Amino acid sequence: MDDKVTKIFLSGYTPSPVDRFGVERKDFAKVALNSQKTVAWEYIENPINLIKRLEKERFHIVAIEQAKNSVDYKKVKIKKPVLFLVGNEVEGIPQKFLNLADVVAEIPMKGDKESLNVSVAFGIALFRMLWEYKNMTENSHNNHSEISLSREWIFLSEKLWGDTFISELFEFLNNYKVKTLLECGCGGGHTLKGLAEKGVKCVGIDNDEEMINYAQNNNSHPLVEYIKMNWLDSRLINQTFDVVMCRGNSLSSVAGWNMTKDNFDKNKAEKLMIESLETMFKKVKNGGLLYMDTISQKEIEQSGGKLEINIDGISLRGKIEHDWKRRMRSIYGSGVIYGKKFSGGNTSYLMTPDELVFLIKKFCNPSEIWMPIFKNEIMYQPVCAKK
Ligand SMILES: C[S@@+](CC[C@H](N)C(=O)[O-])C[C@H]1O[C@@H](n2cnc3c(N)ncnc32)[C@H](O)[C@@H]1O
Repeated sequence: MDDKVTKIFLSGYTPSPVDRFGVERKDFAKVALNSQKTVAWEYIENPINLIKRLEKERFHIVAIEQAKNSVDYKKVKIKKPVLFLVGNEVEGIPQKFLNLADVVAEIPMKGDKESLNVSVAFGIALFRMLWEYKNMTENSHNNHSEISLSREWIFLSEKLWGDTFISELFEFLNNYKVKTLLECGCGGGHTLKGLAEKGVKCVGIDNDEEMINYAQNNNSHPLVEYIKMNWLDSRLINQTFDVVMCRGNSLSSVAGWNMTKDNFDKNKAEKLMIESLETMFKKVKNGGLLYMDTISQKEIEQSGGKLEINIDGISLRGKIEHDWKRRMRSIYGSGVIYGKKFSGGNTSYLMTPDELVFLIKKFCNPSEIWMPIFKNEIMYQPVCAKK
């Protein structure tokens, strides 16, 4: 998606670059300094139809206006593609258009006048919001990183879900006399090594080569086997397990794994999640457990916010954003991990714990389903289902 405005839609009595006979207007050309020739434009009779059409095409609709529900323009995080609405010089944007906007951005005023000239307001707001967007997305690419996104996750995961979490997880699984476990999306393998040390025979599969290599080189154990495999192919493993586990928000991230914010496809993501759940449930023994998780209710209630992680050797700052309309969760961060610079982020499907319960019930038909509480599960909500 471009950094510049790709098209301007004109409506009402707003003049266009040509008059009603199609002849170029000299006054317009003089004011626009000929930029009317470089930016595509179109006159439209009915802005409502345009807004509704672009809304269906997943445009983020941002109105620049003073309104009861407006927010400070400096706090607005645009998502591309974006349609900006600006209104009539005197009357502003009619309420029926404002009702269709995802957000109304307002420039706070100081001094005696209550509002700015519309072109001045639009210039200020557009400059700031595009600048914010650029900063945010530049930080989300890995090009300035000395460390990859996979490595970042491995190190972070090892720190955030260390020995105390693994002990709690083991105690929980031990209640169900778990002897064998398959982890789908095992990452760097530290959870499996921890469980193997307590006597659980594990198989870890992951479709990321870097993750599997790391697991084999750093978290090997006689009771664990790591295989580079897509979990959708797990039927090829000639065995069923007491537990099939997919944790660390992995089910939701499979949906966004090869997608970016610009091409995130909610339907494709949902299909993949359902297929994943069905495949994984087939690998659970009769009477065994499916262990999944998704982001916690606490994070959802924050509905987007600051991300700050400072644990020995890892210092990251960033943002978590929730886009309920597109069912997309985006996470960005930059900082230092064991002395190496990191800057990156990812997109995943946005799902509440209740929705995960609903999906499992509907597509796996378990005999029992519940949400266990873990003291040391800091970011995600586990959901367990019995076959
Ligand atoms: C968020 S990480 C979690 C890793 C690990 N479970 C943990 O707790 O640290 C998600 C993992 O799922 C893996 N993954 C995503 N889609 C997969 C798929 N279809 N098959 C196998 N692994 C997949 C990724 O490569 C990544 O290692």
